[in-house]
Amino acid sequence: MNFQRTFFLFFLLVIAEIVAAKHVTKYFEFNVQYQNVTRLCHTKSMLTINGQYPGPTIAVNEGDHVVIKVTNHVEYNMTIHWHGIRQMRTGWADGPAYITQCPIQKGHSYTYKFKVFQQVGSLFWHAHISWQRATIHGAFNIYPKKEYPYPFPKPDAEAQILFGEWWNDDVETIVAEATKYGGGPNVSDAYTINGQPGLLFPCSSKDVFVQHVDHGKRYLFRIVNAALNDELFFAIANHSFTVVEIDATYTKPYKTEFILIAPGQTMSVLVMADQPKGRYVMAARPYVTSDVPFDNTTTTAILEYTDLKSSESHESSHPIFMPKLPKMRDFLLATEFSTSLRSLNSREFPSWVPLKIDTHLLFTIALNLQDCPKGKICKGYFGGRFSASVNNQSFVHPHIALLQAAYHNISGVFSPDFPNRPPHQFNYTDLKLNLNMNPHFSTRVSVIPYNANVQLILQDTSMMGTENHPIHIHGFNFFVVGQGFGNYDPLKDPSCFNLVDPPMRNTIGVPSGGWAVLRFKADNPGVWFMHCHLEVHTSWGLAMAFMVENGPTALESIRRPPSDLPPC
Ligand code: C2O
Repeated sequence: MNFQRTFFLFFLLVIAEIVAAKHVTKYFEFNVQYQNVTRLCHTKSMLTINGQYPGPTIAVNEGDHVVIKVTNHVEYNMTIHWHGIRQMRTGWADGPAYITQCPIQKGHSYTYKFKVFQQVGSLFWHAHISWQRATIHGAFNIYPKKEYPYPFPKPDAEAQILFGEWWNDDVETIVAEATKYGGGPNVSDAYTINGQPGLLFPCSSKDVFVQHVDHGKRYLFRIVNAALNDELFFAIANHSFTVVEIDATYTKPYKTEFILIAPGQTMSVLVMADQPKGRYVMAARPYVTSDVPFDNTTTTAILEYTDLKSSESHESSHPIFMPKLPKMRDFLLATEFSTSLRSLNSREFPSWVPLKIDTHLLFTIALNLQDCPKGKICKGYFGGRFSASVNNQSFVHPHIALLQAAYHNISGVFSPDFPNRPPHQFNYTDLKLNLNMNPHFSTRVSVIPYNANVQLILQDTSMMGTENHPIHIHGFNFFVVGQGFGNYDPLKDPSCFNLVDPPMRNTIGVPSGGWAVLRFKADNPGVWFMHCHLEVHTSWGLAMAFMVENGPTALESIRRPPSDLPPC
């Protein structure tokens, strides 16, 4: 590169920084601290941000610079991930532990800085280390710029719905047990809506979230599934939803009586408060596709119209309306919902679906069982240890963050040879399959050239049983151009792809015993984690990382690491 060009690029960079400095900056402080919280008559001291459970809501506008100073006051290591934020060139602020940063240790701070770039809608943030996100999570709402108002009728008001899970015991102890014995961790004691289990649990009469609404108004419900291990159906009695946005991308309005939302997914729906004044139950319960133990309870909250006459508002005397939820194993309704969503693809919000593919990837997803090491006790099926893998690679977290290792050329941390295709081919979804491959335990990354158009086929397998896996990719939104059951057929299935207005997401529920085809442009240099957003599966190794190379110029390359990046 000659001197003039370097100088010119430097000049551009300075201009870009000056322009950037003019933007609005929103500043937040997050303190990781203990707080006593009581649910289901159990009080426990648990990890929170600023003592809040769920944590504080971040509200910003598209185009804002966001600065969040996180200070860790507890003995557990911590990182925070801004789930769904693209982090264009700012991978250092993404947050997954040992992928883009080493953890923030006790007594230390790290300031996450990034710009919200061409994204509007409902996202969330959560701890991204061990299972800390069980209690450390909150909403991340992005409002549109004035020049680009919502492409749907303006809501009169908003409501926030965060699903979570509550364990009476300390979550870290549960994970430590599960890791030691290689078993499945305890299922939670309750699902929650905004931190509250609801009416159907014993000893929880006070643990109920109530959303007040005014008759005749239109509400935007911002819905987040921050539960660790289950997809959920959600409905409100007598009220329907119009889905208008998923994972901070606009959709064609889709009217429905219920939604299905996987851990890691978010959405905005419009709800008209047009029913007779009263109290209506909002309820969520899991969509289950496996035989592993799960929490089968229903969590509830109340939608209550304001100005109920005193006779109506007296809880015991007036009727409460219950919603109809799909059955827990209703995969037909689940499929109908997820295949009905379409991206908006309007003139203002076009869908640029990659049509010419440069990088073809086929990844199998599997749960595995390993033999128990001699002299150890194991609590997986048949006395083995559970693990999980992508293309038969079970991800091992390194001790130095991958992004740091890549940026500073530190060798021995990862190898750049993650297989682009399954190392062994078999009938992936054969239910009679009696095959358990021992996965390869490794830290391998898949290297993607800058700006490549990537097609990624995610193929579930029936090893240890099929299951619906919500696969999340950091740093990108992807189009879901097709999905189906059985094995993906490269000859037949492409003819059914939607290349016009496929839904765009950051987390896809890959159908149980089926496949999904994703497309994205690798326009964001850095190291990006991909994993199952069922925390138990990530712990077992159902994860990998992409390494997207820098582009030809400084403006197409990852920025320098911030000076306060936690040391490893
Ligand atoms: Cu919401 Cu890697 O996570």
